[in-house]
Amino acid sequence: MKELPRKVSAPLVRAMKGRGEKIVAVTAYDATFARLLDEGGADVLLVGDSLGMVVQGLQHTLPVTLEEMVYHTRMVARGTQRAHVVADLPFLSYQVSSEQALQSSGALIKDGGAEAVKLEGGVRSAEAVRRVVEAGIPVMGHIGLTPQSVHAMGGFRIQGRGDEARKRLLDDAKALEQAGAYSIVVEGVPAELGKEITALLEIPTIGIGAGKDCDGQVLVCYDMLGLLRGKSPKFVKRFAELGDQVVVATTRYAESVRAGTFPAAEHEFATTTAAEPSRPRKA
Ligand code: KIV
Repeated sequence: MKELPRKVSAPLVRAMKGRGEKIVAVTAYDATFARLLDEGGADVLLVGDSLGMVVQGLQHTLPVTLEEMVYHTRMVARGTQRAHVVADLPFLSYQVSSEQALQSSGALIKDGGAEAVKLEGGVRSAEAVRRVVEAGIPVMGHIGLTPQSVHAMGGFRIQGRGDEARKRLLDDAKALEQAGAYSIVVEGVPAELGKEITALLEIPTIGIGAGKDCDGQVLVCYDMLGLLRGKSPKFVKRFAELGDQVVVATTRYAESVRAGTFPAAEHEFATTTAAEPSRPRKA
């Protein structure tokens, strides 16, 4: 197996395109998952505002706050060794002005421990990207199906179909590159357009529902691991069925507690010795 580089940074992600190396990105929201995904070889751990949906149980990402993003980013940063940690700027934490974008980015970097930030929008966000990049903070763009615009899009709909929409997305991609973004997430567009955007740019594209020709791929970890049961969106591939395993394990646990077979003697503490630890060591 090929050896993985030691620490992934924004310049390394940027350089991977030139080297023809695919970028492996996945979302993470806490230290335990971050540790596992990092060990599994993810290059980028994205603290996505999708946490509003998969962790908080919301219908969309709009209510997620900057404070919540900082909190989750801090946990992910703590659990990560090799991967590059990117944090999402949540809705209305960067659209008001470039100054607001810089301040919010600063919070994710200084208080959260992120190494880069991601924000949604192309041409309309280019000025904010420039301001944040000038301050020394790497910015990942996000175009196509941008979940923070769910109401403007009339739902989570595939973008870039038709000539005008296609042209708008190419302009968006170029505007972000010119503003200094080091990579761009391209979400929910036809595979042909994902390929076209990727060919147009020097910086890498990281696709989600944007076809195989993007320079990398990103999935929500709960989707990738099969933690969300029921029908997955078309672009998702489940690489495990952990949701089923959690239910089976919980059923077994419940049966054992009810039957009085757990805890067994080996799980109990004696009164006379202080030798055994009450908590196992960290994984
Ligand atoms: O919030 C998120 O998880 C994202 C990815 C799905 C790209 O933006």
